[in-house]
Amino acid sequence: MKNLILYLLVFVFALVSFGFIFSDGAQRDIAPIDDVRSLSVIEVEHALGKELPNHYQKSYDPELAEVGEQLIKEGKADYKEYSGKIISSYFNCTDCHNLVKETEEFTNLDPQDRLEYLSENDLPFTAGSTFFGIYNRSRFYNDDYYKKYGDLVNDAQDTLANAIQLCAEYCASGRKLEQWELNAIMHYYKKNELKISDLDLKEDEQKLIQLALEEGVNQKEALTLLQTSYVDRYHATFTGTKPESKRKYGEGGNVENGEKIYKSACMYCHENSRVTYLNLNDDVLSGKYLWNHKEGYDDLSVYQVVRWGTYPIIGRKQYMPLYPKEKMSHDQVEDLMAYIKKLARK
Ligand code: HEC
Ligand code: HEC
Repeated sequence: MKNLILYLLVFVFALVSFGFIFSDGAQRDIAPIDDVRSLSVIEVEHALGKELPNHYQKSYDPELAEVGEQLIKEGKADYKEYSGKIISSYFNCTDCHNLVKETEEFTNLDPQDRLEYLSENDLPFTAGSTFFGIYNRSRFYNDDYYKKYGDLVNDAQDTLANAIQLCAEYCASGRKLEQWELNAIMHYYKKNELKISDLDLKEDEQKLIQLALEEGVNQKEALTLLQTSYVDRYHATFTGTKPESKRKYGEGGNVENGEKIYKSACMYCHENSRVTYLNLNDDVLSGKYLWNHKEGYDDLSVYQVVRWGTYPIIGRKQYMPLYPKEKMSHDQVEDLMAYIKKLARK
């Protein structure tokens, strides 16, 4: 009887350890990866134990992705039996969002580094965040954006499709997208989802990820490394208007830097009244206009309009988006004032 129990135990033990070897073997049976750089970040994260985002789709349709790109850049497109209607008569998405990387190093969110990079690459210094990597974000309209959009952000913060709809209707002062238009933009985002090669990973870090996938080692470490190598969400702090007592009116500000802001932010929208009645060029007239209104707390003061933007009203739906602190620093606003002072020949 004793022996029988012993045999049984040995048998069970053997079975269990056999199962172990088996399942371990199965896990190691992953084909070696030729080029870890070409893999989708989301899919690698998933293989390492993270949940897929709720907007995950396996693949994209190239034709639809192209329609999405056209909607983003031009505001309307045709697709199959659908003929496009303009999303907004005031803005295109690209008036407020770039489509590419905004700093040399992806996770560097410093507004001054962003300004320099954008200005060098002839890209606008926008108030909205770039669409680069947006498919990999998990939260939208963060922090203070609820102050601007109220309850509208509730459904948009964790769902990319709703974030798009909120922006099409409210940020762009347009309309809700048709389902095919929304799909098209999602396919464009999917097409441009992050690949391992988009992250600033060193050779040995890529190796770590590869080994985690192929051999199941250091998976947690690899996942953490990935998750800290891109921007999962963009933060936004609304500072309100700087009180008059604290304004330096450009004193000690960097004129050259201010010029970069003026040209890649203000003139991007205001030059020749592109999206607004207010015409701003790099001439003395524009300089004087802004300089003369610098005091006080209304829309015409740069200190106020940068931090509050303006609000769309019935019959006048074009408005200016505000710059949170993360997108324009207080120092940068002073640099801008220093340039405006020079422009106004004061
Ligand atoms: C007038 C400016 C403006 C226009 C036009 C605009 N947006 Fe936005 N959008 C913003 C701002 C500001 C935010 C706030 C969050 C951020 O981008 O940092 C935002 C946020 C978003 C977000 C969430 C991003 C995030 O990381 O929080 C999506 C998605 C989005 N917009 C899509 C679009 C699409 C698609 C269009 C065109 C149909 C568009 N937007 C047009 C200003 C604009
Ligand atoms: C995304 C486009 C955009 C950008 C960028 C932008 N503006 Fe505007 N701005 C507007 C729009 C639209 C209005 C609303 C005016 C209207 O009703 O046509 C406006 C309004 C203003 C007003 C108030 C005008 C009034 O009569 O109330 C000032 C001043 C102003 N902008 C200055 C600036 C400065 C300075 C910058 C650079 C930091 C800048 N804007 C960047 C689009 C923009």
